[in-house]
Amino acid sequence: MNDPLIHTPTRRQFLKTTAAASALAGVSVPFVHGASDDTLQVALIGCGGRGTGAAHNAMSVTGPPVKLVAMADVFQERLDKSYKSLKTQHEDKVDVPDDRKFIGFDGYKHAMDSLKKGDIAIFTTPLAFRWVHFRYAIDKGLNVFMEKPLIADGVSAKKMYAMAEESEKKGMKVGVGLMSRHSKPMQELHKRVQDGEIGEIINMRGYRMSGPLASAFSEKWPGLTDKSAPSELLWQISRFHSFLWASGGCFADFYIHHIDHLCWMKNAWPIKAQTVGGRHYRYNYVDQNFDSYSVEYTFEDGSKFYMDGRCMVGALPLYSSYLHGSKGLAIVSKNGDIGTPSSTYKGQNPNRANQIWQSTDTTNPYQNEWDALVTAIRTDQPHHEVKRGVDASVATGMGRMAGHTAQEITWDDFLNCDHAFAANADKFTMDGPPPVKCDKDGKYPVPEPGIVKNYEYQPQDKA
Ligand SMILES: NC(=O)c1ccc[n+]([C@@H]2O[C@H](COP(=O)([O-])OP(=O)(O)OC[C@H]3O[C@@H](n4cnc5c(N)ncnc54)[C@H](O)[C@@H]3O)[C@@H](O)[C@H]2O)c1
Repeated sequence: MNDPLIHTPTRRQFLKTTAAASALAGVSVPFVHGASDDTLQVALIGCGGRGTGAAHNAMSVTGPPVKLVAMADVFQERLDKSYKSLKTQHEDKVDVPDDRKFIGFDGYKHAMDSLKKGDIAIFTTPLAFRWVHFRYAIDKGLNVFMEKPLIADGVSAKKMYAMAEESEKKGMKVGVGLMSRHSKPMQELHKRVQDGEIGEIINMRGYRMSGPLASAFSEKWPGLTDKSAPSELLWQISRFHSFLWASGGCFADFYIHHIDHLCWMKNAWPIKAQTVGGRHYRYNYVDQNFDSYSVEYTFEDGSKFYMDGRCMVGALPLYSSYLHGSKGLAIVSKNGDIGTPSSTYKGQNPNRANQIWQSTDTTNPYQNEWDALVTAIRTDQPHHEVKRGVDASVATGMGRMAGHTAQEITWDDFLNCDHAFAANADKFTMDGPPPVKCDKDGKYPVPEPGIVKNYEYQPQDKA
């Protein structure tokens, strides 16, 4: 079945990628000279959609220039496309000659070696590589912007908590792409909620329900029948929403924004979760996702947060988030992850007659988060979002694990589960094996709720 939602790199793109990687092996990496003291240099690692957007936001910060000087990816075509787009938008701020374009799993090192201490590394690969890349940035004393989610499993969460502490002590500034926190309407709403405008929060709701998105649905790896196809590892990376090791699955990648901003409004993380969901229409799809999830999170004070997610054609689309307080209701995101306006109401009916407040700010949170990071670097103010980024990722992971196991999962259950989804992400090679391998029919281990109860899917090395 040919699915227009599914993009697989062609043999030509793949060969170009590996050729460029081999050509770079052994090449010494030039240090970037000539940056004046107030110029901040940036290296982009993971040159896809968000990486290109983040680099654009970095170069759009006003004041002394922020320049892009190095780029790294595992696919040549992705890097080339990103370079072209950024060069067109920021001709004078993009200074990335061919010898500072790096292809391969070690490209991140070369890209960060191109920076000087205090410059900024951008991590916008799928999440499996966050702890690998962050370790190197800490050792080099770089500031960092990293995209959400930060971890997919408890083992990586513990690594990232330790690195969060270490990097904060070192005075590094680190932004995390949970941009709701930089939405001015949500900041104002947060203040209003803390000031008691809608009373005590007793319930929250988040919805991320749409048709199939991004690479959440995958058919078999083409390499099973086509020897010229990309390696199974590179193919999985190109379809990262399909694999729990790469992205935390559609659950983590798509739902984390609502989980993060609602917990922020409540000023608390949930202590446990129980979730229902399933794989309804899977046909030829071999990815590890459910196509619907409904989570009930519980907080220490007994209050609840319901998060519904669905990727299904023909089903009701809903993409918004709400707070219910003892005196009133708030719409946090009207439509989307950060959809304006945010608003508050007397009682539980969000109609105009009951409205207390509606936000008017229209600034872009993706730009605001960069303005905040660069300002903190330039003025040497503390700015460190990693711990709360890991907290948000753990809260998200709990909800997913509860669905995949059909058990009640506490914060510590998630954190202490010994299943590291991609423990060797620091040792990948272009032709090396992926963390999950398909069977002869092209199938991957999927969750078996109620049967496999301690792990989200039967680990292949423990089978
Ligand atoms: N904050 C947001 O609203 C938001 C929006 C979109 C994506 N994101 C996050 O950004 C990240 C990237 O998402 P995307 O949509 O840009 O995906 P993408 O596939 O467009 O980009 C990822 C890029 O990373 C490259 N890559 C993969 N592994 C690599 C490695 N080891 N070294 C170097 N490059 C590597 C890929 O080839 C690809 O070009 C994800 O974590 C995603 O959740 C956040």
